[in-house]
Amino acid sequence: MTISTSTEIAGVRFKNPFIMASGTFGFGKEYARFYDLSLLGGISSKGLTLHPKAGNKGNRVYETAAGMMNSVGLENPGVEAFLDGELDRMTSWDTAILLNLGGGSVEDYREAAERIEADRLARIRDNRRGADMIELNISCPNVKEGGIAFGIDTGEARKVVRAVRAVTRMPLAVKLSPGAKDIAEMAAMCEGEGADAVSLVNTFTAMKIDIRKRKSVFANGYAGLSGPAIKPIALRLVHQAAKAVKIPVIGMGGISSAEDAVEFIMAGAHAVQVGTYNFVNLRAGAELERDLRAFMEAEGISSLDEIRGIV
Ligand SMILES: Cc1cc2nc3c(=O)[nH]c(=O)nc-3n(C[C@H](O)[C@H](O)[C@H](O)COP(=O)(O)O)c2cc1C
Repeated sequence: MTISTSTEIAGVRFKNPFIMASGTFGFGKEYARFYDLSLLGGISSKGLTLHPKAGNKGNRVYETAAGMMNSVGLENPGVEAFLDGELDRMTSWDTAILLNLGGGSVEDYREAAERIEADRLARIRDNRRGADMIELNISCPNVKEGGIAFGIDTGEARKVVRAVRAVTRMPLAVKLSPGAKDIAEMAAMCEGEGADAVSLVNTFTAMKIDIRKRKSVFANGYAGLSGPAIKPIALRLVHQAAKAVKIPVIGMGGISSAEDAVEFIMAGAHAVQVGTYNFVNLRAGAELERDLRAFMEAEGISSLDEIRGIV
């Protein structure tokens, strides 16, 4: 039996459904020491912002039962530095590259997207490969509106999606927050505003208290929870989003095995992302595709289309 694990989203081909999740894979180079990154379906870059960001002070990560919490604060070199440097290394691997974009105001998002579009056009002119897709992270706090994340309220999120869609023709996936008031409504809004895909979920807002110091472990008070602990809830959210839209859904949250990925695909996902598991298994990306093939062979599945959304 010939088995194909490939999938297509907004005209971008992914040789397999495994994309390494933003913030857990840097810009790839640290993992390139462990395996050939061309084995991957894709890589989502560390979250980029218009200007460089130093990130948060204090503890940035904390291990929890069946997961981890992080409060990295989007430390990154800025979108310009990325386009002028890391992106060329990333496109040297034969894998799809998602440019994950964050921002603290609608204006920041728009300006960053304009630079990304200018870079896209310049690369087409010079016949140089560029990023394949923007992954728009709307979980960032709206600094101007008192720090409430854009991704909670559909009206706030709409402003960001509309502003970015207006200035770029690059395939656009919007990354949803599990804190969204109504995930189906949020996904449908993205589709209505011209997004090519939605990806979900980002981390869940969570807390850890150091009882001897009598204060939060994190300088910002709260942090984002990820890993196996969130998987059942993430799966439910992906299922709800997939039922609400026709555009492809990229599912994530706690995926740590090929079987986990199959669950997300059966819930309706076209592709999946793997985040926290990269810290447990540095060769995760290489092993998951192999295990998925073995599962498909054992179950007599020749293509992911046969099982996508069957639940
Ligand atoms: C240390 C760390 C940093 C992250 N940074 C980002 C980021 O910059 N942008 C983003 O959209 N998501 C970021 N995320 C969220 C992940 O991409 C992913 O949505 C989340 O961790 C759920 O997947 P997982 O359970 O497989 O880790 C980060 C997650 C972790 C653990």
